[in-house]
Amino acid sequence: MKNLRFIVQPGGKLTGRIRVPGDKSISHRSIMLGSLAEGVTEVTGFLEGEDALATLKAFQAMGVEITGPTNGKVTIKGVGMKGLKQPVESLNMGNSGTSMRLLSGIVAGQEFSCTLTGDASLSKRPMKRVIDPLSLMGAKISSQDKGLPPLTIQGSSQLKAIDYTLPMASAQVKSCVLLAGLYAEGETRVVEPAPTRDHTERMLRGFGYQVESTKLDDLATEIRLSGGGKLTATHIDVPSDISSAAFFMVAASIAPGSDLVIEHVGINPTRTGIIDILKLMGADILLENEREVGGEPVADIHVRAAQLEGIVIPEHLVPLAIDEFPVLFVAASAAQGQTILTGAEELRVKESDRIQVMADALQAVGIDAQPTEDGMIVNGGSQLAQSAAIISHHDHRISMAMTVAGLRAVAPITIDDCANVNTSFPGFVKLAQSVGLMVAAEEA
Ligand code: S3P
Repeated sequence: MKNLRFIVQPGGKLTGRIRVPGDKSISHRSIMLGSLAEGVTEVTGFLEGEDALATLKAFQAMGVEITGPTNGKVTIKGVGMKGLKQPVESLNMGNSGTSMRLLSGIVAGQEFSCTLTGDASLSKRPMKRVIDPLSLMGAKISSQDKGLPPLTIQGSSQLKAIDYTLPMASAQVKSCVLLAGLYAEGETRVVEPAPTRDHTERMLRGFGYQVESTKLDDLATEIRLSGGGKLTATHIDVPSDISSAAFFMVAASIAPGSDLVIEHVGINPTRTGIIDILKLMGADILLENEREVGGEPVADIHVRAAQLEGIVIPEHLVPLAIDEFPVLFVAASAAQGQTILTGAEELRVKESDRIQVMADALQAVGIDAQPTEDGMIVNGGSQLAQSAAIISHHDHRISMAMTVAGLRAVAPITIDDCANVNTSFPGFVKLAQSVGLMVAAEEA
């Protein structure tokens, strides 16, 4: 495969108004629930990135008629809870952990078996976290050594509800168990130890399914649903992805003279850790035109450049900003003083080991970034002093975070293996160029 290389020239500032692509988490779920619903679901603002398309193709392969995406519009002819068909071949989830983990929950409730595969990065990501609860519910799942993909799931029409406390704060595992719970006999209860994104719960309610959530204490929540119900087709308007907006929020914060508005961004409170953390660092961020779109809060995010300060990142914000740390480490590099992140060991099992890979990348450009077991210590403030060649390690967010780093560099940065940006952010380079980032892509 050809290497897509990003070349970032130092400096620049960001001005204007932009709209980033649709939310990845919501796009996945719209296909899944739309497929299982009765009736026709229309989705607008769908993310036309490879991850969400992997989910779309998987449901087509299970017999669901889905048209689009065309300009973000997708039409799904729901087949009902029991209408999926056994796919002829294994289902390839590409780079997408969300597809594999959420689909596992759905396939566990089918009367057929099927194999889920992934690319080199996904094939190294832990699936024991979904195999364990699904096995307790009665599914039979085989994996490679240590619970790695591919997974072969022998579904069952006799799943049993479970009472499950998540061993880690993971929306993917929570969603997997809840989706299997739709097919289980009895009431499935999931306790999350800290708040994680709640798009599954919200969208299930949007499709007319009863889901209860009860706060157990400051952090933990119990979510309950009973199996055997049905989903009713609806319209889903997908807001822009705050995780994609995050690159531009940090970029505009650290590039002097910037003044940028990012329009129509989803600001679900389980996703806004990036805003809270940047504000604690002294960022100038305003939410404008706040409104609700299809059960999800949305706003335009107005960011002006500000001198950031290093902070100790509060641990309760970690799951609420879990995908944003690659670019938050770049913010920490540009901040005066020390930033300390702890309680973020989950970063080691994302599309890459984001603690090690980002520490290596920042050190390569001359930043004092020390990886720790569950986080990082970054001594920021200086400019990125060295020209460097970075490798993304199959991770879209490393490619984009290091592009943003170029704004504070004194010499060009090249980033190899950037085709993965298409998994979550098609059109990134063009959009970044349009607001002032000096990045170019070439096939090397
Ligand atoms: C996601 C949940 C998060 C996040 C991922 C998308 C989801 O993973 O990192 O990009 O859509 O449920 P975990 O729940 O495993 O932390």
